[in-house]
Amino acid sequence: MRNKNILIVGILITGLLMSDVDLFAEKEKKMSDVMSVIHSRKSVRHFTGQEVSTNLLDKIVRAGMAAPSAVNMQPWSFVVVTDRQTLDTLNDGLPYAKMLGKAGAAIIVCAIPEKAYEGLKELAVIDSSLAGENILLAAEALGLGAVWTAAYPYEDRMNIVRKVLGIPANVIPLNVIPIGYPAGGDKPKNKYKPEYIHWQKW
Ligand SMILES: Cc1cc2nc3c(=O)[nH]c(=O)nc-3n(C[C@H](O)[C@H](O)[C@H](O)COP(=O)(O)O)c2cc1C
Repeated sequence: MRNKNILIVGILITGLLMSDVDLFAEKEKKMSDVMSVIHSRKSVRHFTGQEVSTNLLDKIVRAGMAAPSAVNMQPWSFVVVTDRQTLDTLNDGLPYAKMLGKAGAAIIVCAIPEKAYEGLKELAVIDSSLAGENILLAAEALGLGAVWTAAYPYEDRMNIVRKVLGIPANVIPLNVIPIGYPAGGDKPKNKYKPEYIHWQKW
C-alpha cells in the first residue's frame, strides 16, 4: 500500500514538473516565433497574383485590432478589398502603389479622429499606425507579403482612396496595404544601428 502511494505521488510530481517544462518550452517557442516574424518582415512589392482567402484576411484584420491605442479608444476601421476591379482602380489612381496590380487583396487602415482620445487627430493616426504594423507582421506570419503605401498625409492620395472606396470625409485613409503571395526577391533589410541607441541619457 505504502509503495503504491509513493508511486502515485511520484507520478503526480513528475506530471507537474513535466507540465512546467512544457510550458516553459512553449513560451520560449512563442517568443522566438515573434522575434523571427519581426525580423523577417519586409516590404513585399512583388506578388504572384494569387488570390488571398477571406479567412486569412480576417486573421490579419483581427491582428490589426489587437494593437494598443490611447485609452483603448480603438479609433480605427479597416476596408478589406479583394475585388479585382477595385484593386485595379486603386492601382490606376495611386502611382506609389503599383504592387496592387498583382496583389491578391488590399487593406486600407482608416483613422477616425472623432473616436480618438480627446478627439485628437494625432492620436487617431498613431493608434491606427500601430494597427497597420500589426497587419504587416500578421501577413508575414501567415506566409504572405505586404507593403505600407502612403495615403496620409497626402491630400491627393487620400481623396483618391476616399472616392474609390466611399470613405467619408471625416475618416482618414492612412494607407493602402497591398497583400499577396510573395513572388520572391524581397528581402528584410538590416537596420540595426547601435549609434541610434542612447543608454540612460541621450
Ligand atoms: C509611412 C510610410 C509610408 C510608406 N509609403 C510607401 C509608398 O507609398 N510606396 C512604397 O512602395 N512603400 C512605402 N513605404 C514602405 C517603405 O518604403 C519601407 O517600409 C522602407 O523602405 C523600409 O523597408 P522594409 O519595409 O522592407 O523594412 C512606406 C512606409 C511607411 C512607414
